[in-house]
Formats: sequence, structure tokens, C-alpha cells
Amino acid sequence: MMTTDATPQHRPVRVAIVGVGNVGATFAYALLLNGLAAEIVLIDADHARAEGEAMDLNHAVPFSHPTRIWAGDFGDCAGASLIVLTAGAGQKPGETRLDLIQRNAAIWREIVPHVARNNPDGILLVATNPVDVLTYAACKLSGFPPERVIGSGTILDTARFRYLLSQHFQVDARSVHAYIIGEHGDSEVPVWSLANIAGMRLEDFCAAQNIPHDRAAMDEIFHRTRDAAYQIIQRKRATYYAVAAGLLGIARAILRDQGTVLSVSSLITDYYGIRDVCFSLPTVLDRRGVQKVLRLQLSEDEIASLRHSAQVLKDTAASLRLNA
Ligand SMILES: NC(=O)c1ccc[n+]([C@@H]2O[C@H](COP(=O)([O-])OP(=O)(O)OC[C@H]3O[C@@H](n4cnc5c(N)ncnc54)[C@H](O)[C@@H]3O)[C@@H](O)[C@H]2O)c1
Repeated sequence: MMTTDATPQHRPVRVAIVGVGNVGATFAYALLLNGLAAEIVLIDADHARAEGEAMDLNHAVPFSHPTRIWAGDFGDCAGASLIVLTAGAGQKPGETRLDLIQRNAAIWREIVPHVARNNPDGILLVATNPVDVLTYAACKLSGFPPERVIGSGTILDTARFRYLLSQHFQVDARSVHAYIIGEHGDSEVPVWSLANIAGMRLEDFCAAQNIPHDRAAMDEIFHRTRDAAYQIIQRKRATYYAVAAGLLGIARAILRDQGTVLSVSSLITDYYGIRDVCFSLPTVLDRRGVQKVLRLQLSEDEIASLRHSAQVLKDTAASLRLNA
């Protein structure tokens, strides 16, 4: 265990990653190449795996940024600006994210109190699935204020959606502004009413380009977005590059105090009457974690779909008896 005895303002930026499998290790690699952290600590129940990843990553340091990387324990979460939780089982072919809940909740009951005890002032970033329910469980099990518990939520679904729309409309994905909100999973909701390219609603963009606004093609794009993980898992058993890039975006927004708007999961207190559930809405992230959750003006259909998504998540969270 590496101790942190410097005063908070003199501490190097430390990021702890709990669970260094596909997602955790890929995120660590992205973090190293981007030079966002001075210290990266890798924590895993399989300590040898964490040691192996630390060795491999350290050998990339001469090609990237001076960074201290080691396989540690929960004590090393002390002083970390960000603790990223990626421990636990992933979906097997055909499994939904919600199917993972009992297995990963058991891991949560073990690791979240450990992390919270060692770093009561940190920010938790949850990636393990089902990410929304586990973000909610992390709020309860850590006792942290909700702005310091964030789930990667639909950051990945929003990226997939923007990518597919960009392919259809033949523009850079970064010029497509469109969000997936609600659950990171089967009940997620595409916000068609606000989707735009350069401020033009999709219908107007199509009219200006003299191309048809093809509703069936849009539905197909949403289905491919929602079901992408099933398609990838069938072919390569896991997904990790895009989620790691999304986690990096969240880490950058927080560590560099950027105020970036990203679709991440956090505790919803009152949105169209929905409360006490974690799911994704576009959210302003800065050094405090969640600065603000943006309350989009949705269509009636979108509100109904979001209510359904909230109910699915609440029912799953209730099965954990976190309030008992
Ligand atoms: N949020 C997203 O968008 C997204 C995307 C992809 C994957 N995921 C999820 O991320 C999670 C991890 O996926 P993966 O492919 O990296 O899995 P993996 O099996 O490759 O890695 C999981 C790691 O967790 C470790 N672990 C298990 N129990 C632990 C404990 N109690 N303490 C510390 N470490 C422990 C394991 O030893 C393993 O190294 C899964 O739940 C997966 O569904 C989320």
C-alpha cells in the first residue's frame, strides 16, 4: 500500500480503479496515454492480475507520461480524486444487464464500504452492470452525497447513437447532438424530439439536404444502438474500448473541472414526478462531480417511455432491499 501523507492541495492526482478486467484495464491504459493522472492504482480480487496489468502499463510509461502505477489495496483509495468501480461479472451471450444484479450486488456490498471508509471525500464512478441500479446501491452503501456518485449510464449508448446517426447523415459524429436517456439497457429512451445537427432538427436537416426523413431508418438506428452490446458480446465476448473512452471523458470532465455535459447516471430527485432512482440525463460534470442534471423538455411519448424505464430500475433496485 502506498500512503498519501501530503495535504490535499499538495497531493498528486490519483485515480483508483477497482476491478482491472477488460473494462478497468482498458480504462487504465486510456488514462495513462492521456496523462490525466499522476498516480493510477489498480485493485482487484485477483491481485496477480492487477500486478500483471501494472507491470504491462508501467512499460508504456516511457512512451506516454510520467505516471506511478501499482497494484494496490483498498487503503490506496485514500486521497484518490476519483475511484472507478469496474469489478464484477459481465453479460454472457443472451444475458441482459439486469440479469447480473444479484451477483454484482454481492460484490458491491463488499467493496463500496471499503472504498468509502478509506476515502470519505472521493468521487465514485460506477461502470459495472447493471450500472444504474449499482449506482443507486453505491449511493446507499457509501452514504456519499448524490453529486459524488456517478454511473457511466448511457454515455456509451449516446456515443453509439451519435455514431450511427453520423453514418446515416454523413457528418462527423461530433456534430450530431442526440441523447439516449434513462436506463443503460433494454428500456433506454432515444430523445428524437431534441436530436439535431448543427442546431437543425433532423427533419429540417433532411429538408435542407433534399433527402427523405426516413422514420424506419431512424427506428433501425435506435434498435442497433440499444442492442449493440448483444451484437458485440456474441462476437468477442465483452465490450471495452468504447466504454473506456466514455469513462475517460467523464474522468477528464471531473479532474479538469470542465463543466462538460455528458449523459451519465445519477440520483434523480424530481423529474416529471420521477424520483429516488438513478438513471441518465445530460449532466454537467465538474470537480465536484455532478454540478447539475439538465431537465430536458421531452415529448409526451418520451416522458411515458422514461417513466417505464424508471419503473424497471426501481423494481430491480427494490429486489436488493437496500433500505431494509
Ligand atoms: N457501463 C457500461 O457501459 C459497460 C460496458 C461494458 C462492460 N460493463 C460492465 O463492466 C463490468 C466489468 O466487465 P469486464 O468485461 O471488465 O469484466 P472482467 O471479468 O474482465 O473483469 C472483472 C474484474 O473484476 C474483478 N473482481 C470481481 N470481484 C471483485 C471484488 N470483489 N473486488 C475486486 N475485484 C473484483 C475480477 O477479478 C475481474 O478482474 C461488467 O459488469 C460489465 O457488464 C459496463
